[in-house]
Formats: sequence, structure tokens, C-alpha cells
Amino acid sequence: MTSNSNDLHIETLLAQAGNRTDDQKTGAISAPIYLSTAYRHAGLGQSTGFDYPREAQPTRCILEKTLAKLEHGVAAFALSSGMSAIQLVFTLFHSGDRIIISDDLYGGSYRFFDLLHDHYQLNFSVWDGQDQAQLAAEIDDRTVALWLETPSNPTMKLIDIAATAETTKAHGIKLIVDNTFYTPLIQKPLDLGADIVIHSATKYLAGHNDILAGAVVAKSQADADQLEFNLVTTGAVLDPMDAWLLLRSLKTLPLRMRQHEANAQALVKMLTANAHVEKVLYPGRGGMISFYLAAGVSVDKFLQALKIISFAESLGGVESLVTVPAVQTHADLSEAERQKKGITANLLRLSTGIENADDLQTDLEQALAVAAK
Ligand SMILES: Cc1ncc(COP(=O)(O)O)c(C=O)c1O
Repeated sequence: MTSNSNDLHIETLLAQAGNRTDDQKTGAISAPIYLSTAYRHAGLGQSTGFDYPREAQPTRCILEKTLAKLEHGVAAFALSSGMSAIQLVFTLFHSGDRIIISDDLYGGSYRFFDLLHDHYQLNFSVWDGQDQAQLAAEIDDRTVALWLETPSNPTMKLIDIAATAETTKAHGIKLIVDNTFYTPLIQKPLDLGADIVIHSATKYLAGHNDILAGAVVAKSQADADQLEFNLVTTGAVLDPMDAWLLLRSLKTLPLRMRQHEANAQALVKMLTANAHVEKVLYPGRGGMISFYLAAGVSVDKFLQALKIISFAESLGGVESLVTVPAVQTHADLSEAERQKKGITANLLRLSTGIENADDLQTDLEQALAVAAK
């Protein structure tokens, strides 16, 4: 769904999302949830703009316009999961196409790319995310796109999107960025030269560990038109209830991100100084931290001793969660690949919630002490 340009500050844009959209003139501040899957036509060749919800759905349209404005794209699409968002983008490509990927992605993305290679003859090659000359050398005449995540997952490496966009533009390939970790509150890849942004909206955008959703945002009308056609064809759209929940969640995204980041920065200080922690990985912004437990500190005891932070496989919600990438998000990689990427058994990934930082700190300190005994 296409967005109108607007120059409101991001906090205002999100807090007001959906207000003044009620056609019934009730004055409802909160956008209505339309459940109808059928829309009456006034006559032949006439439409309200809504005919069938796989094509367009009123509540989802309000959300999609908000997502497009948030990422500074021309159009956004709300999907049933982050993986559906990734899948939609890949409908732009064809058998024989080659896609370069950065070397530290969400494990499920690797699983999907393996499937695309095995079943649909797409080819993938890996770039370390740092050396632009190496990237340029990787691009051949079958290469159509570069896919990256920054910060990377779970080792928190940063990639310079603007410099990378110069390389991809010079070689006429698309740059696609998974912006799940930083969100547009911290970085707007389309402003930095990327062509398409995707999100697992399950994470920060939804932010409450309660809905599964994805988003794709396009910078060009040509990409938007093709994505829209392909989404109507394939159908993994977000349902009206979850579209409304996601729209409501976006209203507090700026507040949540501020608290996630402040908490993460406090915890990075504490973890860095703690003798039971070998090393902390933090990209400088946002709410995601990875850290290695020191030798002899039991991962299982640590997880079981936590009283506030939950051992659970997700991120970006108001409740703090910790995961063990080697056995959860990145379990599908081979042991050799995990070792190469530094995803060892003692690496933990912490998604800091919006609780009080002192309480989180106390929880981590007591669990580390128990795990070190
Ligand atoms: C960075 C990133 N991208 C994509 C996904 C896939 O999203 P979903 O689980 O919403 O399908 C995830 C899920 O963890 C993720 O962390």
C-alpha cells in the first residue's frame, strides 16, 4: 500500500497512526478492525478500493501506509511472518540468479536460502560485510542482489549500508536489508541507498512477544508494483486482528526503543566488568547484546537461575529474553559453520526488555554467580 509523503516527527507519525481514518465519521481515535472478507460493489466496474482481502484490506492498509512512512519507502506490505516477508522478496528472482549474502544472518534465512538453492536453482555466495573491493569482485553477470543484516545475528557486526549501496548501485544489483535488529528508529536503510527493507515484525515492531508478523518496504514504485502483484498471487498477508495489534504496537516503538537501548547500555557495562563473562558483543546501539560465558560457567545453570529474564527464542519484546544461538536460532548450521562464525556453546544472546535496568542487572549477576559455582 502506497504512502503519502509527510514531514511529521517519527514519534508523532506513529502515535497518530490510524487516527482520522474512520470513514463512518464516528470520531474513533483507534483505527477500526475490519473483519469482512467480502466487499459490496455499487455496480458493475465499481469498487470502494476494497474487493478481496488478499489484495487490500482496510485495517492492513492503514498499517502498511504507516510502515511505508516509517521506513521512508513508497509502499509497504504486511505479511504473516518475517519468513513470509523474506519469501516475498525472493519472488522477484529467477532460477539461475545469484544472490550475495552477508556472513552472519538469522539461522532461518540460511535454511530458506538452502531450500531455494536445492529446489529452485538460485545460487548464493557469502560476503564478510566489510571489504567493498571484495564485494565488487564477488558480483558477476548472474548476480542480482545483495542481502544483509546489520547488526549481524548473533555476533553484532556492523555493515556500512551507505558504502555498500554505492557498490551495489555501481554494479546494478539490488541491496536488500533485514532491519529487524535496529529498526528505523536507529537506521533507515532506504535513506542510505538500499532498495528494499524487510522486518521480522514479530520482534521490535510488534514488541510485546505476542504476534507473528513480517514487513517488506520498497523504495521504488517498480519494485512495489511487482511485490504487490506477487503478494496478491502468493497470499501470505497479515490478518486484520494482528494488523491492528501491530499498528497499536507501533505507536510506542520510539518509547520502547529508548528504554531497550538504555537498558542494554547499562547491562553491557555490568557484563563487561563481570568475571564470569569472557566477552561482550554490542554494536553500540539498540537492545541486543551477545556475550560469552567464561570457561567453567554452566550455561544451563545460568539459564535455570534467571528469575526475571526468560530463556526463550525471540527478541525485541518488552520482556527480556535470553537465547542460546548454537542450539536455537542457529541450530541448523553445521558445527563447523557455527565455529567459524563464533557461535559457540557458551554464546548467549540477550534481548533487553523495558524492565528497570537495576532489576535486570541484579538478575544477571545472581544467575552468573550460581552458574559459576
Ligand atoms: C533478523 C531476523 N529476520 C527474520 C526472522 C524471521 O522472522 P519470523 O520469525 O517473524 O518469521 C527472524 C526471526 O527470528 C530474525 O531474527
